[in-house]
Amino acid sequence: METVLRVKDLTKRYPRRRDKPVMAVDHVSFSVDKNEVVGLLGPNGAGKTTTIKCIAGLIKATSGEIWLNGVEAQRQPKKAMERVAALLEGNRNIYWRLTPRENLEFFAGIQGHQVRKVKAYIDELIELFDLKDKEKTSARMLSRGMQQKLALACALIRQTEILLLDEPTLGLDVETSYELRNVLKEMAARGERTILLSSHDMHVVQDICERVIVINNGRVVVDDRVANLMKLFQVSAYRFELEGHLVKELEMKLKERFPLLALSSTDHRTYIDADLVEGSELYEVLDILKAGNIQVKSIGHKEPNLEEIFLAIVKGELK
Ligand SMILES: Nc1ncnc2c1ncn2[C@@H]1O[C@H](COP(=O)(O)OP(=O)(O)O)[C@@H](O)[C@H]1O
Ligand SMILES: [Mg+2]
Repeated sequence: METVLRVKDLTKRYPRRRDKPVMAVDHVSFSVDKNEVVGLLGPNGAGKTTTIKCIAGLIKATSGEIWLNGVEAQRQPKKAMERVAALLEGNRNIYWRLTPRENLEFFAGIQGHQVRKVKAYIDELIELFDLKDKEKTSARMLSRGMQQKLALACALIRQTEILLLDEPTLGLDVETSYELRNVLKEMAARGERTILLSSHDMHVVQDICERVIVINNGRVVVDDRVANLMKLFQVSAYRFELEGHLVKELEMKLKERFPLLALSSTDHRTYIDADLVEGSELYEVLDILKAGNIQVKSIGHKEPNLEEIFLAIVKGELK
């Protein structure tokens, strides 16, 4: 596999925020193969935007290397920038006074494409993003969702080797978010683009990416295929309420199989708290209880939230 993007020990320290330096990105290393679609997942403040801005050449890294198809971005910024297009969060990098078509022509132009040669692709993007009715409207007058779609189209028309998307669906209404997600999903499935997509929403990443890099506090904590990570996400907290008390033997049996499981009891009840994989492990606990003739009064179930999973991963409980 050909590596298109390689980040090595990337570090970004902002001089200060409230008088204290911030280590926004701390020795981050990863690489992305040609036509791979990788998610950069992490809670707010994790360092996603900073990482993407460094790769896109919009801010200067404190140290580390950024290789774009064999070109070190900081040593040869101009050459490197021709290989990346970025869609940045909040900062809609489109020209307010130009119409959608003019914007697309402009961005094709700065990439060195001749407008007549990309006309068909511009038409296709206008169609794809439903911008046809708004062809004569200046970008400033478009809705937030339309502007975001146009910004993505402008990144696409450059037809660069690498596409960086920072929170592409953040702050959009449900419908536009869904539309954009589908466009990205389709693009990913076609496997014609190398994409690094950041999000704090695991569903967006799950939907679009094949691999995910989880970052927290500026550090990579997980780099794995989404399918593998999903197994971690399926662990949720259960609380079993049982009639009566467990005999020692049964207690041992449970603890042996699930060492982290917690038992507590009142006069007539026993409670089991455990993090279990939905399905398989849950059924195992039920089987053990059934074999011990214990009556289960209720099972409480708490879905894990992303924040908790990050904490668990960071604390090493989930690895
Ligand atoms: N311009 C800046 N000056 C100082 N600190 C910053 C600046 N931009 C971001 N930070 C800090 O760097 C950390 C990472 O931020 P960011 O990369 O925006 O994270 P994310 O995109 O994952 O939410 C946060 O602690 C944030 O407060
Ligand atoms: Mg961000």
